[in-house]
Amino acid sequence: MTPDPYLSMDLLRFTTAGSVDDGKSTLIGRLLLDTKNIFEDQLEAVERASRLRGEDYVDLALYTDGLRAEREQRITIDVAYRFFATPKRKFIIADTPGHIQYTRNMVTGASTAELAIILIDAQKGVVTQSKRHGFIASLLQIPHVLVAVNKMDLVGYDQGVFQRIAAEYTAFASKLSAPSLTFIPISALLGDNVVQRSAAMPWYDGPSLLHHLEHVNVGASRNLVDFRFPVQMALRPSAGFRGFAGQIASGVIRPGEEVVVLPSGRASRVRSIVSYEGELAEAAAGDSVLLTLEDEIDVSRGDMIVRAGNLPQASAALQCTLCWMSEEPLNRHTPYILQHTTRQVRAHVDQLTYRIDVDTLHREPAQTLELNEIGRVRLVTTQPLYFDSYQVNRATGNFILIDPYSNNTVAAGMIRREDQEVADLTVANFSEKLATIRSSNVVWERTAISQELREQRHGHRAAVLWFTGLSGSGKSTIARLLERRLWALGCETFYLDGDNVRHGLNRDLGFSAEDRQENIRRVGEVARLAFEHGALTLCTFISPFRADRRFARSLLPEGRFLEIYVKCDLEIVKRRDPKGLYARALAGEIADFTGISSPYEEPEAAELVIESDLISAEDAVEAILAELAARGVVTG
Ligand code: ADX
Repeated sequence: MTPDPYLSMDLLRFTTAGSVDDGKSTLIGRLLLDTKNIFEDQLEAVERASRLRGEDYVDLALYTDGLRAEREQRITIDVAYRFFATPKRKFIIADTPGHIQYTRNMVTGASTAELAIILIDAQKGVVTQSKRHGFIASLLQIPHVLVAVNKMDLVGYDQGVFQRIAAEYTAFASKLSAPSLTFIPISALLGDNVVQRSAAMPWYDGPSLLHHLEHVNVGASRNLVDFRFPVQMALRPSAGFRGFAGQIASGVIRPGEEVVVLPSGRASRVRSIVSYEGELAEAAAGDSVLLTLEDEIDVSRGDMIVRAGNLPQASAALQCTLCWMSEEPLNRHTPYILQHTTRQVRAHVDQLTYRIDVDTLHREPAQTLELNEIGRVRLVTTQPLYFDSYQVNRATGNFILIDPYSNNTVAAGMIRREDQEVADLTVANFSEKLATIRSSNVVWERTAISQELREQRHGHRAAVLWFTGLSGSGKSTIARLLERRLWALGCETFYLDGDNVRHGLNRDLGFSAEDRQENIRRVGEVARLAFEHGALTLCTFISPFRADRRFARSLLPEGRFLEIYVKCDLEIVKRRDPKGLYARALAGEIADFTGISSPYEEPEAAELVIESDLISAEDAVEAILAELAARGVVTG
């Protein structure tokens, strides 16, 4: 077997952080030129272009940017991976265009980087951006940070300037869980200390930048313990052969080992590992392979194959660090698409715990995150993620958020841990059901018309009004009256009623706790679809179980799910008994009847409580309308 380049110690992946003015392109150009990775004719072209622009030096940035522009015409990715080599090592630079915002560049390029070069302009000194880059490097746990103090020629190669910057930055970095930190004074333009040690700075006795890149210790941060194989594709090139293609995210695997497929939980053994080189005796993190299993089991894109004795965590409520990368600020009302390994699920930011001031590293309360801001959030997903904390596994601990309407990547995130506070109350509880999901290879299709546009036309926000309470408490009476009022106000409404859905959509369900759970799961999903279409969605379901209501709530962004508890004394509903059901239940003719032979768990934090044995349905409607106005759902 040939050595795997990803694991090999003679490959270094690094990223460069700094804006165009800091000399990033020039530095890359200089590295390529001085290591003879630029061809003669390319160099001549750059010399010509520099002369044409009236410059008396070779503008290496023109070379780097030229290459990039060439690529950009053809492809629209944000990161270009540039490859170069010296006799000592091979290098992959994650290079990102300077015109796109820097946090985004760095986060995108750095997920597999083992070293980050942070450029600081010697004339400007340490600026917020330099701190931000250091902070992100520490968040991303890039093991090595090299601070290149650039443009030393413009400060007369002054040792004092270099030392002040190094001291200031060291003080800042001491507050981070900082990896190894190295400072090198350079001039990318003139080549000082880039590849050759500079005669202009005799006071500096450290290595050149390239020497450091060639000798820094790599490989220590790779996770070779936890085998994680996110499936990219299931292949069946011929009858009898079935393989699963993907890139091993972490760990090592050999034929014969026992594995489990998530989320189905099905177990099998690895029969063979195939790569373009043929069958392998072993494969590891970074290898793109085809796995075949001993047993015929259903595996599809988005599933994860792991070793039987070493499972990732599973949860639908996550504590994460988010780096916001979009001009559009974080919207807690948007159901984002979360891309984690090869899988997409819906997710919303349930709580913004704090924002981090990058200058001081202090935590501060915040309502949103704007471009380049970093914060701590609680995310709730509609299906559990199979993850490891970023700290132990960068590959399965990171994700991105995608705006469902624009399809833009809006944030990069690192999972810290499960959020215990709400985990029990979300979809994870439903994992038994989800284990039987048969449609994991579906992607989220955007609707052509965004929810915002729909809301604009309707003249009100979308929301789900979830009426819960005993049978006969008055849920439907109030909801019907309310819908008529909303209709008169010109609102777009959608009404889901407990009895009605049981004639069709849920005709296969009874009233056991399990069936009620499924009842609420389905209508919760339908309510969400109606919500996404901009409707004020009214749902009247006994929904006696707290966990089920919490699930329905978890499908919607914060503030858009209003739980309305229609509270009525049991003795009173028994007396009212509009459908004669209580009498029958008491006579033992109906099993599992809520309030009689099945419990009703009262809401603990409903947005609104209507005491229907004390106020009229008309007054209840007024109270709900007032609440909707106060929340800005409807105006007036
Ligand atoms: S839920 O518990 O699953 O939310 P849902 O609101 O859909 O119940 O349906 C409740 C309606 O079904 C009641 O209004 C009543 O008319 C009827 N029903 C029939 N059997 C039962 C039962 N065992 N418990 C409660 N409601 C029942």
